[in-house]
Amino acid sequence: MQPEISLVTKTPPGRGELPRHVAIVMDGNGRWAKLRKMPRIYGHKSGVQSVREIVEACLNKGIEVLTLFAFSSENWKRPTNEVSLLMELFISSLKSEVQSLHGNGVRLAFIGDRTPFSSQLREQMQNAEQLTSSNTRLALMIAANYGGRWDINEATRQVCEDVQQGKLVIDDITPEILQSRLALAGLPEPDLFIRTGGEKRISNFLLWQLAYTELYFTEILWPDFDHEAFDNALNEYAGRQRRFGLTGEQVEQARGA
Ligand code: IPE
Ligand code: IPE
Ligand code: MG
Repeated sequence: MQPEISLVTKTPPGRGELPRHVAIVMDGNGRWAKLRKMPRIYGHKSGVQSVREIVEACLNKGIEVLTLFAFSSENWKRPTNEVSLLMELFISSLKSEVQSLHGNGVRLAFIGDRTPFSSQLREQMQNAEQLTSSNTRLALMIAANYGGRWDINEATRQVCEDVQQGKLVIDDITPEILQSRLALAGLPEPDLFIRTGGEKRISNFLLWQLAYTELYFTEILWPDFDHEAFDNALNEYAGRQRRFGLTGEQVEQARGA
């Protein structure tokens, strides 16, 4: 019997490859600003430049999906002033970036619970999604008020609703069905996870989707993360052997076949 590579992943294991999907926890903005004796928002503003640079690098390299953690469901607990300045920054960045993203063939989409955002921000998000919906060069997924637990909870709720309405029976519930209700449904799973800022944790980012993702942690603070730092992460990824539970020999054999 042929071994199943993975229940849900579509990416074959391999070496020397470019990830199809990169997911990044953009951390360290506050510390970057503090080192410069500046307010935290200065770090967040500087982080927007890194976003531009990494989006450009993804476009140049032909990476298909970039998912960025911009604001977690836990970040509301920060000082009110920081939260409201961050919201203003989202609004102004969306305004300034959407046209050029669109011009470059980027499809922009947001994952997370939008209900607590202002109507102005929600409208901008929706407009940006509508404007760019047919673009195919790069899917840029922005996680805003996103939490991995929220995502799994929402998917579970949807599946339960389908059972209640008779569209599904309990025996239909499989990992594939649950996955099809998650925020990133339909996209390849993240191949490479990057966290800047030195912390070695997931912080409630993509919990389900990271099951077989290669994890990469760097001390570099997000505003300093540039295309060279990104290349280093991609090079490390390219040198790893993804096994998905198989032995190294099985993987080599499958690649040679
Ligand atoms: C990440 O940088 C950005 C957000 C969470 C919005 P931080 O603001 O967490 O920066 P540090 O971790 O305090 O340096
Ligand atoms: C994770 O960073 C969230 C984002 C980068 C948006 P945090 O700075 O909120 O994570 P913790 O609190 O250090 O775990
Ligand atoms: Mg942080």
